[in-house]
Amino acid sequence: MSSDTWKRQAAEKALTLVKPGLKIGLGTGSTAAHFVDLLGQRVSAGLQVLCVSTSERTQAQARALSIPLTTLDETPHLDLTVDGADEIDLDMRLVKGGGGALLREKIVAAASERLVVIADESKLVPVLGAFPLPVEVVRFGLAATRALIGELAAEVGCQGHIRLRMGADAQPVVTDGGNYIFDCAFGRIEEAEALDAALKAIPGVVENGLFLGMADTAIIAGAGGLRILGDQF
Ligand code: 5RP
Repeated sequence: MSSDTWKRQAAEKALTLVKPGLKIGLGTGSTAAHFVDLLGQRVSAGLQVLCVSTSERTQAQARALSIPLTTLDETPHLDLTVDGADEIDLDMRLVKGGGGALLREKIVAAASERLVVIADESKLVPVLGAFPLPVEVVRFGLAATRALIGELAAEVGCQGHIRLRMGADAQPVVTDGGNYIFDCAFGRIEEAEALDAALKAIPGVVENGLFLGMADTAIIAGAGGLRILGDQF
């Protein structure tokens, strides 16, 4: 079976949490897109929900499926958010932002009663960090911010190449918030909480892709079936 099939299976399981009237955050990425697709099918069959998207990409998908959409300004508290991840450890600490949506994803997750992460088994890792950590930064003072990220990360044991994310047009990728992203290839993040605090102390850093203590449930699909971490169903 392909990883895409597993992503779909995880999304199908998450869909069983959806009840009429729920306010739902919609994640970003190929796994979250499966959930949005399945939710769209339920909506077209009559399910009533209200959703907030974590990216312009997801917003477009949801709109095309006629999923009712709102904003966090109109609806500041959500019942459930379903999103993917780039890495998940056994404590349900996450690396996110491979799709560049980490800032809105974190804002939406923080506004949600329950964050459910869906993934194929390749995302489950013993230690975070093999996937380069996305760090969203303002464009002003880019070189200074990069230097500070390197220095402060090294103080908490993280070293590696810090690369400005580039697009297919050979220009820096611009996030939905108008910022740039550094991908930090630390290899192993042993002290995720310390690294998170260090990155948050840098003025040019808007947010980083470590989601610590935020996920309530992780649904991991793989060759052995479904594995549920955290709060069960
Ligand atoms: C986007 C994300 C995604 O959830 C993450 O990159 C996983 O994507 P995919 O489901 O395509 O593997 O954090 O910013």
